[in-house]
Amino acid sequence: MIKQAIIPLAGLGTRLLPLTSVFAKELLPINGKPGIEYILDECIDAGIKEVVFIISKKKQMIKNYFYNDNFYKKIIKKKKDPRILKEYQKILKYKKMIKFVYQNKPLGTGDAVLKTRKYIKDNFFLMLLPDDLIIRHNCSKSLIKVHNRYKSSVMASMSVKKKTVSRWGIFKLKKKLDKKNFLVSDVIEKPSLKNAPSNKAVIGRYILSKKIFLKLLKQKPGKGGEIHITDSIQSLINDEEKFIAHNFSGKYLDCGSMNGYIKSTLEIAKL
Ligand code: UTP
Repeated sequence: MIKQAIIPLAGLGTRLLPLTSVFAKELLPINGKPGIEYILDECIDAGIKEVVFIISKKKQMIKNYFYNDNFYKKIIKKKKDPRILKEYQKILKYKKMIKFVYQNKPLGTGDAVLKTRKYIKDNFFLMLLPDDLIIRHNCSKSLIKVHNRYKSSVMASMSVKKKTVSRWGIFKLKKKLDKKNFLVSDVIEKPSLKNAPSNKAVIGRYILSKKIFLKLLKQKPGKGGEIHITDSIQSLINDEEKFIAHNFSGKYLDCGSMNGYIKSTLEIAKL
């Protein structure tokens, strides 16, 4: 059973400047609700019991958002507004399940994941990248089902336009397992159009084996000088670790770029 999830939140969010110059992008509202709450709701609905947030000192406001008890208590006493009470209870529910670890230098997603090593108890865990919202279908829940069936690592995948491959982690298929699941033979971080083995991209939902930590400990910086989770996944695949690409149902929304963030707000407002 997958009971733990990790969420890297220590990136700089430069693509959303100026919104992110003093504000954490994961707290930006999408139709009146911070983006990170959509991600937490997806985890809860998928049966996750504990979530590890990787933040940085610069993003301390994310922790403050969940630890503002005195403020809420005072306001609730004074105003007796049932809406505020309900919101506070929801935040308390989230707070109970979140642990915080720090990555003070944004050295890459792989380095962020490594910070959670001591917290992961089971052999497999879920990772969600909060810039990637998937609506209308719980992607994490589907990945967990695939994991339970094949007892392997799983990544969410979708086809992207060929000319955009250099923005994604792109993988090569080895074998079709069934209608929605494929065995992966290679995964490459942000390849050039010429070097891309396909137009199948990895989206920010993964079920990873604890073995990834041993790879990350030895992982050298890759593209752009960052330590990428993709490179350690490739290293595990080279050791015959089974990785499945799952073509998820539901609609993908990119909340990490300015255009994407604006579009996501409009899409979610329609739900
Ligand atoms: P991205 O590289 O896509 O986003 O990281 P970013 O760095 O936050 O923003 P840009 O590219 O400057 O606009 C994907 C996810 O991994 C986290 C980010 O917070 C984001 O959720 N991340 C990235 C870390 O936690 N640590 C890192 O060193 C890098």
